[in-house]
Order: sequence, then structure tokens, then C-alpha cells
Amino acid sequence: MVDIKNVLVLGAGLMGSGIAQVSMMAGYNVTLVDVEQRFVDKGVKGIEEGVKKLEAKGQLNAAEVLGKLKTSIDLASAVKNVDIVIEAVIEKMEVKKQVCKTVMANGPSHVIFASNTSTMSITEIGKDSGAPERACGMHFFNPVPLMRCIEVIRGASTSDSTFEIAMKVAESLPCLRGKRYIAPVLKDRPGFIVNRMNAPVQIYMGWVFDQAREKQIPWERIDADAGGKMPMGPCLLADYVGLDTMVHVMNYYKETLSSDFEPPKIVKDLVAAGNLGAKTGKGFYDWSKGREAIVEKTKKAEPAGMFDLVNTMAILLNEGCRILEEGVASGFKIIDDANMAGMNTPGPFGAGKNNWQEWSKLLEDLAKKTGKSYLKPCDLMKSGKFTEMRK
Ligand code: CAA
Ligand code: NAD
Repeated sequence: MVDIKNVLVLGAGLMGSGIAQVSMMAGYNVTLVDVEQRFVDKGVKGIEEGVKKLEAKGQLNAAEVLGKLKTSIDLASAVKNVDIVIEAVIEKMEVKKQVCKTVMANGPSHVIFASNTSTMSITEIGKDSGAPERACGMHFFNPVPLMRCIEVIRGASTSDSTFEIAMKVAESLPCLRGKRYIAPVLKDRPGFIVNRMNAPVQIYMGWVFDQAREKQIPWERIDADAGGKMPMGPCLLADYVGLDTMVHVMNYYKETLSSDFEPPKIVKDLVAAGNLGAKTGKGFYDWSKGREAIVEKTKKAEPAGMFDLVNTMAILLNEGCRILEEGVASGFKIIDDANMAGMNTPGPFGAGKNNWQEWSKLLEDLAKKTGKSYLKPCDLMKSGKFTEMRK
């Protein structure tokens, strides 16, 4: 097996900078590449801040870790001496396919291309690259240094050796909050495990967002409905992930899973106005005073009574059952564990084992109320047979 030393991280945004930071901390030589110097500089600034914070805590030597970093705005030349590329460019299929092709055409004959796509087909990304067997998925969660989960995804053409190397690299990356959890994804289906299971929650959230806008309910009241039971309320989380990413992701599910994934009007309008959430300083919320100020506001807000966490759990259980039906994961324990490691919230199967009958009925009602038939319970959930599929 190839000994991985040189990692190229493509895209210096929110995710790429985090992936580069943990790769440097693992001891790899890292080249961070973007299309323009100003994007590279922004990513480097974030990495420096993170590494210096850790040095102040006595956890590492900043100069040593930062000495591992090189940058470039020319992928074709930067990839020449690289063992693995972890790609975190924007969520657009044509861009991902193009960069994969450039990597395979210009990199060494052993180079691996691992995509951090949130949703899209790894098989399709690698298909026309000239070396589909060396393409796979490595899906991280935001923020990369703090979220434990990495999903490693096999495309239809991914070779065993590519998959094994990607698993090894994923396992080697440190996490600042507990032990990394690496989830092998057995089948290349939209959204893989964690995002797929959470995907239809966006249908429900989107419906709530548009209703709240119509009734002029402030966003902090929607987040107050989560009552501190989620690490971030739904509006805060959408801003944190990036509203443009939310639209790209929902559009992809609309094409691949169901037309019910039409992005909510409010989110489309915010994106059209250039308000993408935390990364532009404005989305649902004004981020100029930082995340803490928003959290304080939601703590003081009166709950709107519009976003119900039990509905969310039922939706998660239903989609988790679809993941089992499709053979994406081998059993429900992996799904629950990956959700905890990727979102810091419990998966639905623990509670779902005792509540599936009641929750199936609840979903029938919710599908009627919202007009979104994708929310109807699937056969595996309605029958309760998933309870026999733990491992
Ligand atoms: N380098 C070094 N230190 C860092 C750092 C970095 N890059 N980033 C943060 N830290 C430090 C902070 O400075 C802080 O240090 P102190 O405790 O000394 O102050 C520490 O790490 C903890 O950071 P926070 O205070 O920001 O952490 P928190 O307790 O407020 O929790 C959170 C933050 C973990 C993000 C939590 O709010 C959470 O779990 N939110 C949910 C996030 C989530 O759901 N993510 C998944 C989104 S979906 C996705 O990613 C998939 C997709 O494809 C779209
Ligand atoms: P971002 O907008 O913060 O960063 C994307 C970066 O890619 C930008 O700096 C952009 O200039 C750069 N870029 C665009 N085209 C490029 C190209 N051809 N070559 C090199 N760089 C290019 O986005 P992000 O939130 O970091 O997301 C990146 C990827 O990670 C997306 O596929 C997204 O779906 C996925 N992802 C995002 C999250 C999240 O919570 N934001 C979580 C997991 C996965």
C-alpha cells in the first residue's frame, strides 16, 4: 500500500481550511489550493488562528505545524508530487468532475482523489476522470476540527486499495473533541448516511421557515422551539452550514430522490441577495456580533410552537430505514453512531425502537399537512422489521 505523505486540499473555504488544518496536525505535508490567492489567504488565516489557539493551550508547536503548509492557485502543477487530493470545492457536479480529471491527468499514477461532496455521486465524479478506480468519497462535518465523523465512500468503480487508503488517512486525522469515528459507506447513494438521514428534515424545516416568514415570526423564535435540545437550532445551523450549500444540496436531492426537496423560498431569496449565512456575515441572522450573540437571542426568545423535535425524530427514523432498505449501511448502530459523531445529536433508532408505530401515524399526518408525500413512512418503518437490523 502507498505510504501517504503529501496531501493536497483543494478549495480553501470553510471545509478545505479545516481539512488542511487537521491534515497538517496529523503530520502530512499539505498543499492548499484554490482558484484565487485571496481565497487561499482567507483559508490560511483561519488555519493560523486555529493552530495558534492550540499552541496557546500547549497542545502543539505552531511553527512546526504551519511549516507543513504550502499554497498554490495552480492545481495542475501543485498535484505533481501528491499522494492524495481531498477536494472541498463548491457543491457543483461539473466543477468536481473537472477537478478530478485535472488531478488524474497531472498527478502521479497512484494519486487518490477523495471528494468531500455533501451529497453527490462519487461514481459520477470519477467516471470520466481516466482513473475512476482511484476516486472515492471522504465526507467531513463542519467544523472539521471539532466534529468526529468522517464517512468514507466507495463509488461503483472505487478499488479496494483506494478505499483502504482513504480509510487509513481518515483514521489518522485528529479531532479536537473526542475520538474520530469513521463510517464506511457501502453504497454510493445521495447524501451517504448522515446527510441522507437528515435530508428530509430540510423538507420539514423549509416548510416551517416559509410559514414563519408568511406569519412574520422572528427566526430566533423558531430556533427557540429546539429548546437547547439540538446543539444549534434549525435557522442557526442552516446559516452555519451555508445557505448556498443548503440550496445546492436540496436541488441535488430534488433531482435524485424527490421533487419534495424544492428549497424553501426564504432560503432561495437570501442566497439570491448574497446572504449566505455565517460566511458572508448575514443569512437568517446578522453574524456581525458572532455566534454567541445569536445564541443569547434565541435563549431569550419565546418558542413559536412551529418546529417540533418529535416530527424530526420520526422523519430521521423513516429515512434511516430507507438507508437500511437500500443497503447503504450494514445496520442501524452505524447510522446512530455516525449521526452522533457528525451532528452531535442522537440518531433516531434508540427511541424509534419503541415509538415506530406512533411515529408512523404522525408522519402520515405530517405528509398530509405539508403536502409532501416523501414524508410518508416507508415499509421497513411501518412494519417495525428494522428492529432486527442492528449490525
Ligand atoms: N482550531 C483550534 N481550536 C478550535 C478550532 C480550530 N479550528 N475551532 C474551534 N476551536 C476551539 C474553540 O476555540 C474552543 O476552545 P475553548 O473551549 O478553549 O474556548 C473549542 O474549540 C470549542 O469550540 P466552540 O466553543 O466553538 O464549541 P462549542 O462547544 O460551542 O460547540 C459545535 C460548537 C461543536 C460546532 C456545536 O455547536 C455543534 O455540535 N453544532 C452542530 C454542528 C453540526 O451539526 N455540524 C454538522 C453540519 S452538517 C455537515 O457538516 C455536513 C454537510 O455535508 C453539510
Ligand atoms: P466554501 O464556499 O466555503 O468553499 C469552497 C471553496 O472552493 C471556495 O474558496 C472557492 O473559491 C473554491 N473553489 C471553487 N471552485 C474551485 C476550483 N475549481 N478549484 C479550486 N477551488 C475552487 O464551501 P464549503 O462550505 O467549504 O464546502 C465545500 C464542499 O464541502 C462542498 O462540496 C460542500 O457541499 C461540502 N461540505 C460542506 C459542509 C458545510 O457544512 N459547509 C459540510 C460537509 C461538506
